[in-house]
Amino acid sequence: MAATTAPTTDPGALDRFLEKVEAAEAMPLWTQLKNLNYAEPNSRCVPHVWRFKDIKPLIVEAGSLVPIEFAERRVLQLINPGPKRSGFTTDTLYAGIQSVLPGEVAPAHRHVAHAQRFIIQGSGATTAVEGLEYKMERGDVLLTPSFNWHDHTKRKGEGDDQPMIWLDSLNLPLFQCIPVQFTEEYHDAQYPSKPIDVHPGKMPWRDMQPRLDAVDGPVAEIAYTLPDGSPTGFTMGTSAWRIDAGASTPETKETTSHIFHCISGSGKTIAKDPRTGEATTLTWEFADTWAIPTWWTFQHIAVAGDAPAYLLNVHDRPLLDNLRFYRRRLPSPIGM
Ligand SMILES: [Fe+2]
Repeated sequence: MAATTAPTTDPGALDRFLEKVEAAEAMPLWTQLKNLNYAEPNSRCVPHVWRFKDIKPLIVEAGSLVPIEFAERRVLQLINPGPKRSGFTTDTLYAGIQSVLPGEVAPAHRHVAHAQRFIIQGSGATTAVEGLEYKMERGDVLLTPSFNWHDHTKRKGEGDDQPMIWLDSLNLPLFQCIPVQFTEEYHDAQYPSKPIDVHPGKMPWRDMQPRLDAVDGPVAEIAYTLPDGSPTGFTMGTSAWRIDAGASTPETKETTSHIFHCISGSGKTIAKDPRTGEATTLTWEFADTWAIPTWWTFQHIAVAGDAPAYLLNVHDRPLLDNLRFYRRRLPSPIGM
């Protein structure tokens, strides 16, 4: 390893030099190299699962305590216990659980950040994106591209009397180092929109599940794509997995980070620390959400039984591909 201090016959010379460097708003690189040149990707995020049975009562309680007019968006962020920073579920991805009650409108706004939803429960609500309004239905993936006006409405008397609850995913962490995010509010709660039934930004589960089931083998993954075959976002991609009961996915170690969500079924994910090889086991069931940081080896295993597990996978692979940052390692030896 290179020395971080140079030999000198004058013990005070280096300190005086460093003071002059600091006064010049500069910094020696040689003292910082260890903080810049890692042997491996070095995320401060950790694998973590947020259980729906814990989060749902909290978002329901928030509905009685926090009016939508006050909150604008009534969301519980899923905060990674590593950095513990607002907006960070992984280093590049944010997830939150949002609710809209009967009679409420999450008011129209638009922002630079790309957003998408996965609908967990509820009926009778609509989302309006850039002038087109469509139903929010259980299992939908709904896209809100950058700077599209959007609002979410649950009218009284339409659908059930329960809160609409969904998983939000956005690329918010990126704006900590690229501070170009901003939001504009529309002057009315709802942006003028016309109702439609079919839209490329609404991807129903009833279309995806048969495609997964038609794939041979115990494990299948299919990407959600736009009509031209491109990913669901420039920085975020989305796929769905089928893992048959008792089956396992291949061990994966890559620079991609992931937010997984259990659409149905149950199982566990084994994640291995790239620095120590130590394994963390995350168990999951319906509507649980979990994060896998970059470079952690991971493997999903569905519980034995009759029903397969279906997972949503929100990831940053498009970002890494667009920046030419994607790398992967064969998973042997595991975690090393
Ligand atoms: Fe928004």
